[in-house]
Amino acid sequence: MTDTLKLAVIPGDGTGPEVTTEALKVLEAVAPLENVRYDRVDFDYGGDRYLATGEIITEAQIDELGQFDAIYLGAIGHPDVTPGVLEKGLLLTVRFQLDQYINFRPVRLYPGVDCPLKDKGPEHIRFDVVRENTEDLYCGAGGFLRKNTPQEVATQEMIATRYGADRCLRWAFNHCISRQDRLRLTLVHKTNVLTYAADLWERAFHEIGEAEFPQVNRDYNHIDAACMWFVKNPEYYDTIVVPNMFGDIITDIGAMIQGGLGVAAGGNINPEPGGCSMFECMGGSAPKYTGQSVINPIAAIAAMGMLLRVLGDQKDQPNLVRAGTRVDAAIGRTTPKMKSMSAGRMGYTTTEVGDLVAEAL
Ligand code: IPM
Ligand code: MN
Repeated sequence: MTDTLKLAVIPGDGTGPEVTTEALKVLEAVAPLENVRYDRVDFDYGGDRYLATGEIITEAQIDELGQFDAIYLGAIGHPDVTPGVLEKGLLLTVRFQLDQYINFRPVRLYPGVDCPLKDKGPEHIRFDVVRENTEDLYCGAGGFLRKNTPQEVATQEMIATRYGADRCLRWAFNHCISRQDRLRLTLVHKTNVLTYAADLWERAFHEIGEAEFPQVNRDYNHIDAACMWFVKNPEYYDTIVVPNMFGDIITDIGAMIQGGLGVAAGGNINPEPGGCSMFECMGGSAPKYTGQSVINPIAAIAAMGMLLRVLGDQKDQPNLVRAGTRVDAAIGRTTPKMKSMSAGRMGYTTTEVGDLVAEAL
């Protein structure tokens, strides 16, 4: 017997609703195979609602979302809304308010997917990035002085707390151990320049690693070097742990080497008991493709698979983990049939790709 999952679904803007439909199609197909029961409530947060009401989302509404087992998000971003307004007002606010302090972004080259790196295949690109998700330059600390004068000053502060680093590092170490044969954890930062924030992370990394996870090999890369290795030698990496801003940047490189944003999924995870996590594809709302059924839903479907696996682990429900693993395997049987991962060049419509994954289940 399993609990009924309570899912909040935010299809969002642009192509978000199209890819969400495919992810839900796959959920519906996998559920009976593993006895997964779920209830789903849709929410219309996003650009259109904001343009109509002037409101993005209130604290009370975020608290309401936090009562669900998980949130599934399509995409946010509207051509008629100033860039940053919805991203900050919805995406970042939910991450912060629900304390989703892990941003988990696996980088996997699925079978048959073209990799822009010469001579690299699925056996080379299979690492995980654990990005801290509630601190760093994303805190919005800083401000202006003498704004709009020739003497203007702007500051933007990089916040690192020992509490924030510790909890992220512990999750990353534990994740590393769960990968069994892949026991290297690489901290990515910039110790040669950011001598305060990086120093805090580096000390926390070695103290926790030595005391609690001696079996994990601790490794360190500067962020600029990591960008180079992602392209030169991606097979070197097993699990990476990285603060928020650098993590934002390297996971876009990660997305490219795994075939593009149409493939890359992420989870904003609150691992605490009763915590509510949010799963999304990394690509945006792609307004110019809206309504044409040309966008790649693989990332959105992979985000659904991740939702099932993460919730299964957290709630100790192996059937959910198995369901998530089935979704991933079905993606792996679908990608070889697709011509490309790019919008409009898949050889199939968005709907047909969702059908293929559902059939592969
Ligand atoms: C991401 C995005 C967001 C971020 C933006 C949209 C605020 O780039 O999820 O990586 O910077 O975290
Ligand atoms: Mn990003």
